[in-house]
Amino acid sequence: MNFSLSSKAITATKTDCLVIAVPEKGEWPETTKAADEALGGLIKQLEKAGDLTGKNASVNTLPLVDQPWQRVIVVGTGKDSDRTPANFRKALIAMMGALKDGPSKSALICLADTSLQGEDAVSSEEARLNLIGRILEDQLYTFTEFKSEKPAARKLKKVVVQASGSAKALKDAFNQGLATGRGMNYTKDLGNTPPNICHPVWLAEQAKSMAKEYDCIKTEVLDEKQMEKLGMNTILAVGKGSKQPPRLIVMEYRGGKAKDKPYVLVGKGITFDTGGISLKPGEGMDEMKYDMGGSASVFGTMKVLAETKPKINVVAVIAAAENMPDGGASRPGDIVTTLSGMTVEILNTDAEGRLVLCDALTYVKKFDPEAVVDMATLTGACIIALGNQATGLLSNNDELAHELLAAGERTGDRAWRLPLWDEYQSQLDSNFADMANIGGRPAGTITAACFLSRFAKDYRWAHLDIAGTAWNSGKAKGATGRPVPLLVDYLMTHAG
Ligand code: BES
Ligand code: MN
Ligand code: ZN
Repeated sequence: MNFSLSSKAITATKTDCLVIAVPEKGEWPETTKAADEALGGLIKQLEKAGDLTGKNASVNTLPLVDQPWQRVIVVGTGKDSDRTPANFRKALIAMMGALKDGPSKSALICLADTSLQGEDAVSSEEARLNLIGRILEDQLYTFTEFKSEKPAARKLKKVVVQASGSAKALKDAFNQGLATGRGMNYTKDLGNTPPNICHPVWLAEQAKSMAKEYDCIKTEVLDEKQMEKLGMNTILAVGKGSKQPPRLIVMEYRGGKAKDKPYVLVGKGITFDTGGISLKPGEGMDEMKYDMGGSASVFGTMKVLAETKPKINVVAVIAAAENMPDGGASRPGDIVTTLSGMTVEILNTDAEGRLVLCDALTYVKKFDPEAVVDMATLTGACIIALGNQATGLLSNNDELAHELLAAGERTGDRAWRLPLWDEYQSQLDSNFADMANIGGRPAGTITAACFLSRFAKDYRWAHLDIAGTAWNSGKAKGATGRPVPLLVDYLMTHAG
């Protein structure tokens, strides 16, 4: 797909399909007025006749003859007072539904001059272009690698987005949005890849090919022997029931000054979670291929950095293992010494995410991090608490937590904070070791984070539980690309 920005008069761009916004009441954006004029007042007439209501996210495709365009897609953008960034996003997604599989080979999208409500940063044209770029890539995503009959190629080949001018800031914002969308799509590809292909060594190969593709990315992979030497026994304990050996994958993007402390991203990379000896029920177990969704979002974010080259240092660490039950697997009751020296009694082998993450959280101390954010499909309890709307956020630092929440609000990739009070810690008491790896049924997301917090004492740390947000179940089953928008936004606010 070819994407570009234009600030020429809309009639000067030759295109099959014009996309314009019609609000419900209220003043029209300039591009809608210009389109109406070029069409001899057609849009006004259709609005008067009641064919165009302007209701938010309504979409009307108007086929035309003898006009500058073969068709016009009219997107309803609702009442001025209701036009929040979230509602505008809905309208953009609805518009893409009509555009992407339609007959148009090219389109000119005139939606960046629709003004929004709310104190959110999406109220600037730059932010809207960023969002439009991201949604274009995100909504055009398909995953057909394993279908022997590929769907017919899309007719749509070229999309131009109308902007008010040709300022570099506008182009940068649009490109940043496109890159974010591509990062999300990479994250989706990794999450959707079946677990017989996507195993820890395969993930490590992905990191190596990123280093090959982008000069600014360096990759290092620790195998099980190296991890054993260091004492990363909990990652090894999770991986040892599988024929696929575990890996610790490190990627570095150094775009900032040498002395700038790096932001560290840590990803849970369980390429398949059977539960181990504490075996999961069979129903829906296929979905546990996305238990590497945290690491997939780290990959996606690194790709965005590599493509947009912000002035910031970022280190990514992925703890990759497959959680399987065989004769070598960890048992409930096993006690393991973590890299930190603390001991853990594995009471449930299905609480494996925290086991691979705890060693990674200890390992990252060596980077002297500015802040550490880990991403993990960590608990089913998080889906019960927050559903599929918000990522669970837990942190030992209020400022960091607020920054991440704000990044989630700005991008619509929302998170919601849960408490990490000391009172919850005692749920992890073990009779035999320093701690147990489970804290009982109450507050499952919080006690999982409590476990991690014990390994993250030496730096500012936040944990994102993405069990509910990284994946869609049901008919639209598949990876979502979240929380790449949140992470990219957060990192960009810290880029020099
Ligand atoms: N990967 C799962 C969490 C999960 C469940 C993610 C459903 C997405 C959808 C994690 O490893 C797990 O099994 N957690 C257990 C923890 C429990 C044993 C304390 C859970 O949530 O049941
Ligand atoms: Mn599990
Ligand atoms: Zn898991």
